[in-house]
Amino acid sequence: MARITVNVNGEDREIDGAPVHTNLLDWLRSLGLTGAKEGCAEGECGACAVLVARPDGEDRTRWTSVNACLPPALAFDGQEIVTSEGLGTAEGACAVEDLHPVQREMADRGGSQCGYCTPGFICSMAAEYYRPERTGAPADAEVNLAAGSDGTDGSVGTVTGSTPAGATTVVETAAVPADTSDAHAHETGPNGFDIHSLSGNLCRCTGYRPIRDAAYALGSPESEDPLAQRLDAAGPAARATAYAAGEAEFHRPATLTDLLDRLAEQPDAQIVAGATDVGVELNLRHTRPPVLLAVDRLAELRDLTRTPDHVEIGAALTLSEVERELDGEIPVLAELFPLFASRLIRNGATFGGNLGTGSPIGDAPPALLALGASLVLASRGGERVVDLAEYFTGYRQTVREPGEIIKAVRIPLSLAPTTAFYKIAKRRFDDISSVAVAIAARIEDGLVSDIRIGVGGIAATPVRALATEDALRGRPWSEETVSAAAQVMSGEGTPMDDHRASSRYRSAMLGQALCRFYVENSPSEVLEVAR
Ligand SMILES: Cc1cc2nc3c(=O)[nH]c(=O)nc-3n(C[C@H](O)[C@H](O)[C@H](O)COP(=O)(O)OP(=O)(O)OC[C@H]3O[C@@H](n4cnc5c(N)ncnc54)[C@H](O)[C@@H]3O)c2cc1C
Ligand code: FES
Ligand code: FES
Repeated sequence: MARITVNVNGEDREIDGAPVHTNLLDWLRSLGLTGAKEGCAEGECGACAVLVARPDGEDRTRWTSVNACLPPALAFDGQEIVTSEGLGTAEGACAVEDLHPVQREMADRGGSQCGYCTPGFICSMAAEYYRPERTGAPADAEVNLAAGSDGTDGSVGTVTGSTPAGATTVVETAAVPADTSDAHAHETGPNGFDIHSLSGNLCRCTGYRPIRDAAYALGSPESEDPLAQRLDAAGPAARATAYAAGEAEFHRPATLTDLLDRLAEQPDAQIVAGATDVGVELNLRHTRPPVLLAVDRLAELRDLTRTPDHVEIGAALTLSEVERELDGEIPVLAELFPLFASRLIRNGATFGGNLGTGSPIGDAPPALLALGASLVLASRGGERVVDLAEYFTGYRQTVREPGEIIKAVRIPLSLAPTTAFYKIAKRRFDDISSVAVAIAARIEDGLVSDIRIGVGGIAATPVRALATEDALRGRPWSEETVSAAAQVMSGEGTPMDDHRASSRYRSAMLGQALCRFYVENSPSEVLEVAR
């Protein structure tokens, strides 16, 4: 067996003898790198976040934040990881000269109290710091470390906190956008920092204001910064990996043919892509599949191609990669991505994984059903294309045969021009849907000429709301039609009661979603009344 090595903070470290199911976090901590913490072990808190060097096109690298608690350490054979220790360290309480700019801003602005969450925040923040598209100047923030200041002038945009040394910090955040009429004004700093890059990081004690101030005060990386220089070279290639410990094995096949051969021989092998579902199973349900088969870096599953007829998205591209590559080209997906988990999760999660679980509450299926998508399935016997509407056959059951994988998602062109994705959940971000509704419609000359509605969370499988579609198709796009169709929509599926929502609530939300779609896409006179 070839040596398995991961470059951690610039040094090659060998994985030798560790159990196959060891996650990246546990392995890093076993090396003494205890900055990254375990808060939840299920991708919810971000205390475990680290940076991984991912290819960004052919010849560039992108520092990408991931939850280390979910993927197996072996998935990083030949890869480069940076932990909070690799960014910078302060030897002694007052030594700050070796801190990374992100660490320094967090310290200066009181962004850390107990510190449990801090290394995770630092890594997510560093990924955003190095994001090549981020441009802008830092907030015009002024730090006054004068002890004895009362710390506030009472105005919005001033915040007080304590430095580690006990002095009071006064941070003027004058350049933070003040226009609250724009809901997104507060979500990107004047330095281009997307605050949603931290949406997967939770802090229980500091409060988010000083953390946001630190983020918005960041400048641009210096040209001699080695992590910035790393961006200009190709990212680490995937390495074929074979490893066994005890009874268990880990394989990363080099090619799709190798993968399908192995799967034909070991049909019960657990396919692992981003591990954002599999990792939770391993950590919380203690499943121990005897064979893990990594597909996340497989080139054949990582293409995004366009033909005149369709867009084809490789099953192993991460949602963040697809989001970047499409850049709004498919509007219903552009609405889906920000509502799908957090940036940390989207940096690992794939469409293949979301569809591979067969879950009735995955967020991708409603959107893809509304788009009329189909799946390219591959096995040693060849490829076949299956309409997504026919893919799900029962609760977590699909037409996928043993030995078969999802190779790609195919979205037909042309796209319906009027679309929406509504996720009804207890929290706006980073929550599981109670109900998800995606709508793609063509409204021409006041008539609904075509409409597709995909729904999740109301049946054992994601479904098309076919009766509602029939109640709308070919009819005038009017309040009367939509009211009648909303009644039909409320009766779609067989929603159940659970801890997330009652069946009555789910049914009510279906009808509401259609009404909302009408209000958002109706003639202006109706809009005025409705709003
Ligand atoms: C904190 C947190 C928040 C989440 N939020 C959301 C959310 O908002 N919406 C949502 O829908 N989901 C959410 N999820 C679930 C998860 O992120 C998604 O289902 C994700 O798309 C899974 O992708 P993955 O690549 O990580 O899959 P993995 O975990 O690697 O695999 C999942 C399953 O799919 C199979 N699989 C993977 N790739 C393939 C393939 N190419 N062919 C066949 N089978 C395959 C695997 O064998 C496994 O059974 C969340 C998860 C966590 C931990
Ligand atoms: S430990 Fe909470 S996200 Fe990993
Ligand atoms: S500083 Fe204590 S949890 Fe964030």
